[in-house]
Amino acid sequence: MFASTLTLTRHAREHGYAVPAVNILDDLSIRAVVAAAVEKDAPLIVQVSVKTVRSIGTELVTTIARLASADQPVPVALHLDHCPDRAVIDDVVAAGWSSVLFDASDRDLATAERETAEVVAQAHAAGVDVESELENIIGVEDGVGSDVALHAYTVEQLAEVAERTGVDLLAPQLGTAHGEYKATPVLRPDRVRELAALTDRQIVLHGGTGLSEQDFRTFIDAGVSKINISTAVKTSYMRSAEQHLAWARANGKWDPPSMFRDIGKAVQEAVGTHLDEFRASGHGREAAAAITRAGGAR
Ligand code: 13P
Repeated sequence: MFASTLTLTRHAREHGYAVPAVNILDDLSIRAVVAAAVEKDAPLIVQVSVKTVRSIGTELVTTIARLASADQPVPVALHLDHCPDRAVIDDVVAAGWSSVLFDASDRDLATAERETAEVVAQAHAAGVDVESELENIIGVEDGVGSDVALHAYTVEQLAEVAERTGVDLLAPQLGTAHGEYKATPVLRPDRVRELAALTDRQIVLHGGTGLSEQDFRTFIDAGVSKINISTAVKTSYMRSAEQHLAWARANGKWDPPSMFRDIGKAVQEAVGTHLDEFRASGHGREAAAAITRAGGAR
């Protein structure tokens, strides 16, 4: 049973931390991020890009996530990251995921609002929470997105659309970008504070890789309750594979399971550091109890 993304993020907001939403790539990375959450006693959102859904298939990724999170002492939610494609949303809603990010930032505002309301009606009928993106987060994430800002709305507009559509979480532009930062970002925790004063929807920080612990804390104190991390997983995964392969070549030892072990350890360590930085460590069991009080997992 997957945990509710909304219940987890509400718990985080009430207790002054953010739930890590970590993009995974395969069974190895799913097990590593769950192991990090268990080690640190932290709640976790396992996050999956549309590209990964397409490469593994909804059924297999759902099954792997279900088995990896079953009977763990910490709650684990399963979330679909940036998805402009309604057919993929249909699929994961039917598969019983916790939540979806309907990314309507490629639409004009009127169309984005109409379609977001439709997605909310469909998802809520199945007990699935909805994150909404109207402005685009800068940067291309697994083939979705743009390197230029397509829309900029006022916080009042964002809050009004959120109230009318009934979304559960908001992904506003906060000065961050997906991928490695090429220049120092101009961060906008002020927008989080303004939005939090206008709406009680949960606020999500995208583009977590490359920000400092102090940046995370500033955003959490401003009201962010979910922080997305993807690039850090990819780089720790690939760099440890690269190191292992160099060692294998030097020693003439080609043993895939020992490379998997190295990769799993590297990903677990990288994610564990973020769990501490988001102040999520130590809140896992307590968040699991909040899920039970809220009526159980979905
Ligand atoms: P990074 O790749 O910069 O960590 O961003 C992750 C993200 O926001 C996924 O939606």
